[in-house]
Amino acid sequence: MLEIQDLSVEVGGREVLHDINISVMSGYTNVLFGPNGSGKSTLLMTIMGFSGYKVTKGRIIFNGEDITNKSVSERAQTGIGLMMQRPPNLVGVQLGNLVKIMSKGRVKAEDLAEDLNLTGFLTRDVNVGFSGGEIKRSELLQLAAQNPCFVMLDEPESGVDIVSIEKVGKKVHELIRGTSCAGKSGAVGKGALVITHTGQILDYVNADRGYVMCKGTVACTGNPRELLHEIRTKGYDECISCNIGKKTLVKVKEEGAN
Ligand SMILES: Nc1ncnc2c1ncn2[C@@H]1O[C@H](COP(=O)(O)OP(=O)(O)O)[C@@H](O)[C@H]1O
Ligand SMILES: [Mg+2]
Repeated sequence: MLEIQDLSVEVGGREVLHDINISVMSGYTNVLFGPNGSGKSTLLMTIMGFSGYKVTKGRIIFNGEDITNKSVSERAQTGIGLMMQRPPNLVGVQLGNLVKIMSKGRVKAEDLAEDLNLTGFLTRDVNVGFSGGEIKRSELLQLAAQNPCFVMLDEPESGVDIVSIEKVGKKVHELIRGTSCAGKSGAVGKGALVITHTGQILDYVNADRGYVMCKGTVACTGNPRELLHEIRTKGYDECISCNIGKKTLVKVKEEGAN
């Protein structure tokens, strides 16, 4: 469904991503791990097509179509959606109005808000004065309204309190596993690429494949639960030389890029 081929990306005049190769098949949920600053968010922002993320090499293919040079709105219309790690405040835009536009009348904003403990937030400006966990739930609310065929989540569980985490987890599961979705690409089924720091979200989604990013490139790939276990016990240092779970992991590159 999504294929990232030899992708290198420059941000603020610096090459942040180097030679990334990742693919996600329809019906699959792949997970990205990696220490702070390894380039995970940059990758999702680039796939979504935000300006400031300059592709200097490689291609992004979505359902057989090269989308490397398409605009954010074209990518959204074709069926790609992103829950951002740090979304902007939208002063003057009420959350309820945004949700209505994004769902195109498919679902009731009030029902979605109730699912995510956000009743009462629909009349507030998007993210303005929201707490960290509220921003996460507001992002998820918008994504659920859009119901994209390819779902990208940037640390959906971080900052969410232990009571809300179950609601967030269930909503994420629903969003990823549903069969129908909004997109013009003629995609069959859904796919997902999820960044997780804590691995908590893996309790709610059936992840198929994991990648560890280090220094702007993919160091290792393997079973996501095994990867998480190795990271928890050995830390991230090992991933640079791809020593984690040697027996089970595929060595992607000889060295992390500098
Ligand atoms: N707009 C920017 N200008 C300069 N450097 C940036 C910019 N955005 C991200 N970076 C840098 O790119 C690297 C990767 O960042 P990011 O993708 O946010 O990492 P992660 O999500 O893995 O924590 C970091 O070193 C970060 O400081
Ligand atoms: Mg990030």
